[in-house]
This record gives sequence, C-alpha cells and structure tokens, in this order.
Amino acid sequence: MQDYREFIDEILVDTATLERRIAELGQEISADYQGEDLHLICILRGGVVFLTDLMRQISVPNTVDFMAVSSYGTSRQSTGQVRITYDLQDEIHGRNVMLVEDIVDSGYTIGSVLDLLRTRHPNDLKVCTLLNKPERREVNVPIDYCGFVIPNKFVFGYGLDLDEYYRNLPFIATVNLEKFHPDQA
Ligand code: IMP
Ligand code: MG
Repeated sequence: MQDYREFIDEILVDTATLERRIAELGQEISADYQGEDLHLICILRGGVVFLTDLMRQISVPNTVDFMAVSSYGTSRQSTGQVRITYDLQDEIHGRNVMLVEDIVDSGYTIGSVLDLLRTRHPNDLKVCTLLNKPERREVNVPIDYCGFVIPNKFVFGYGLDLDEYYRNLPFIATVNLEKFHPDQA
C-alpha cells in the first residue's frame, strides 16, 4: 500500500484538536446523561477509533455494543439500501442508546440504522458522529452530538479508511484521489 504522504492533501483535524474536541463531547454527554446509564452502539468499522476515545471521556455508567452494516454502493459512496452484516448482541428495549459513527455523509447509513433500532423500542435514541459532511446529505437525519463539520472532501485516518487502509492514522486528512493508486497495493 502507498505511504499516505504520497497522496495526502492536507491534515484537516490534527491529533491535539481531536483530543480536545472529544474531551468536550464526553463532558457534554456526561452532563446530559447525569444520573442515567448510557448504551453506546458503535457502527463498525469506521466508528471504532472514535468510540474507544469517546467512551473514556464519558463519566456516566456506560456499556457498548457493535453492529456492522453494508451498503450496496461503492466503497466511497453509499446508496439508500443498507443491510445488517453483524447485529447487536444485547437487547436495547428501554435503554438509553447512542449511536457512535465516524461520519455522516449522505445520511443513508445512520438513517437506516435509526429506522431499524426504533423498531426495538429503546427508551431514547441519539446520534453522536465525529464528522458531519452536510453538503452531501441526501436524507435528513438527526445529529445530537457532532465533533466537526467538514467540507465536501473525502477524508481518511482516525477510523476512516481508504480502501480499508489508513484507519490507524491519528489525524483526519483529505486525500488527493488523483495521487492515490489502490491498484499498486
Ligand atoms: P453515508 O451512508 O453516505 O452517510 O456514509 C456513511 C459511511 O460512508 C461512513 O460510515 C463511512 O464508512 C463512509 N464514508 C463517507 N464519507 C467518507 C469519507 O470521506 N472517508 C471515509 N469514509 C467515508
Ligand atoms: Mg463506516
């Protein structure tokens, strides 16, 4: 796989800024859920880096579960149809649920997951996304907590992938797609 330095455009959110903002989100969430329990649901795989940092900044009692969905679109663009490939292990009936996502782009993924989870009757269902790309929105989805609003550019790092790689990078960067050559892997 190419070194990311060959195709990086710019660092959009650096490590220190991520840390600061995630600490703020954790404080905000902890204040809003004072006296209650919170069940965090991470959408695999992109949300996992954000989840593990965020949960350590939350002071109310919390539990985690995971789900994976796959969209029928391409790797860089989802479509309206989303299918569950890995379902939750625990019941959410009556619980305070928060979906933790890496990015809301078209909104199809979060929109379908919300529709599905509502049928299981949680007490409360909220969305926390690290990134929001509002210019790309095709369906309206409620976002309760958001780390950063970003421009309409493809990003990678901190959980977000480019053809499954680079999720481990500790910052969020934009890619110059003309310089990225996945076939040379
Ligand atoms: P949506 O269904 O269009 O809102 O897209 C959500 C999913 O698409 C995210 O969970 C990501 O996996 C992926 N995605 C959207 N934009 C980006 C991006 O800029 N970089 C990496 N993945 C992205
Ligand atoms: Mg994803």
